[in-house]
This record gives sequence, structure tokens and C-alpha cells, in this order.
Amino acid sequence: MDRIDNKANYRSPSLVTGYDAHRRIGEDDYVNSLEVGYFIAQVRRLAGPSGSIIDMGAGTGKLSLAFARLGYAVTAFDQSDAMLERLEAKARAEGLTIAVRQGDIVADVDDAPSAPSHDVAVSSRVLMHVADPDVMIRHMAKRSRRGIVLDAPRRASPNRLLAGWRSLTGGEVYRCFDDRSLLDSVGRCGLRVIDASPLFTLPIGLHLALHRKAVSTALERALRPARGAASTLFLAAERTG
Ligand SMILES: C[S@@+](CC[C@H](N)C(=O)[O-])C[C@H]1O[C@@H](n2cnc3c(N)ncnc32)[C@H](O)[C@@H]1O
Repeated sequence: MDRIDNKANYRSPSLVTGYDAHRRIGEDDYVNSLEVGYFIAQVRRLAGPSGSIIDMGAGTGKLSLAFARLGYAVTAFDQSDAMLERLEAKARAEGLTIAVRQGDIVADVDDAPSAPSHDVAVSSRVLMHVADPDVMIRHMAKRSRRGIVLDAPRRASPNRLLAGWRSLTGGEVYRCFDDRSLLDSVGRCGLRVIDASPLFTLPIGLHLALHRKAVSTALERALRPARGAASTLFLAAERTG
């Protein structure tokens, strides 16, 4: 196992201040809409139009707020007080109720209740940062009655070059995943993959820089034949037993 574990980066108040604007969270933006749309569609498939969701590595609430707006009962789980405080402030401003749990997805796996506490566990842009992705997937599986939905940067994509570039220049280095190994890790947790979609043929950073939803939509449509090299794998898996 390599030594990637980026959790400390997300405790910095200065990172939290610019986090939403930098990633266009909550905006009618191509990246935000595609990501959130995927999670909503798969959660509806697993749990139907209502139920309870635990958002693991919830951050400032990209997914938590979207599900709370739709009427799901949401628990936001994260190790960063600063991220969770931002999430709570946003929920309060919209009059939404979201339960908040501070904890470590990897270190606290054995603290998960013996019976699953939620219908679905979701997680976006977290698996790439944790010390042990297999343990994180096991933790998500332990907490969910119906299944899990998550995303991960793909090794067979430009993401790997970006992560490599960052390791040379001192940026945040994240983990990239081989599709097959990731699907096997999910299978070992008693889950059956019901969807695995490579999305974002162009790097996410390029779409954010473009900041033109219509242009991004047209470009990704035109590049659909090259989806095999897309940057991120989004997947949903249901409990088998
Ligand atoms: C890139 S942010 C993603 C936040 C949010 N899911 C989103 O899509 O905007 C990664 C989040 O994972 C959290 N995180 C990273 N490692 C963690 C760990 N071991 N346990 C709990 N949370 C962790 C960080 O605190 C941070 O909020």
C-alpha cells in the first residue's frame, strides 16, 4: 500500500473557504450537475424516492444537500470539522436538516454498528484520498442496507498523468484505480455492481476552466466514442445477501 492519506489537507480553513467556488459546487455547472445527477439516479435505483443516506467524506455537502433537498434523511460523515461546519451552515441557510457525524472512514470502520444504519452509503471524491480504499469500501458496505454509490479516478486515463505531475511539483497527490481491481474490491464486500460508468472524457479540470455548460455538453457528446479513456469511474453496487 502506498502512503497517500490526504485527510489533513481538508482541515485547513483556507481550503474550506474556497472549496465550493473552486469546484462550482451547488452551481448549474456541467461537472457539478453530471456528478450529482449520477448519484441521485443510482440512489433512486437502489432505494427508491425516499430513504436514508450516509454521505461518507461529505465535505461541504455537495451530495448531502442534494439528497436532503429531495427529502432523503441524510447523515454527513467526515473527519474535518471545518468542512462539516460549512455543510451545517449551508443546510441551516436552506432550512434543511442533516445529521452530522465527525469520524474517520478508515480508522473507525470497526465502530460501525453491527446492523447497517442507512439504506445507501454514497461517497464522491474521497476514495482517491484515503489511506486504505478497501477498508473504506468495507465501511460503506457495513453501513448500508441496499448498496453503495461512489466514484474514483481511473488509472487508464489522463488522471494518472495529473497525479504523477503533482507528485513532481508538490500538489496534492491522489490515488488512481484500475477498474477491475476496484470492482473486485466491491465484490469482496458482498455487493454486486449494477452500474459502472466511465464519465468525463475530458479532464474535470478542463471543464471547470471552460465554465461553459453547453460547450462541455457538446464536447463530451462528440467524444463519446473515446469514453474508454474517461477520467473517472462512477459505480453503484447493491447488497446481495
Ligand atoms: C475532495 S473532498 C470531497 C468532499 C465531497 N464529497 C465533495 O464531493 O465535494 C474529500 C473529503 O473527504 C474527507 N476525508 C478524507 N479522508 C477521510 C477519512 N479518512 N475519513 C473521513 N473523511 C475523510 C475530507 O475531510 C474531505 O471533506
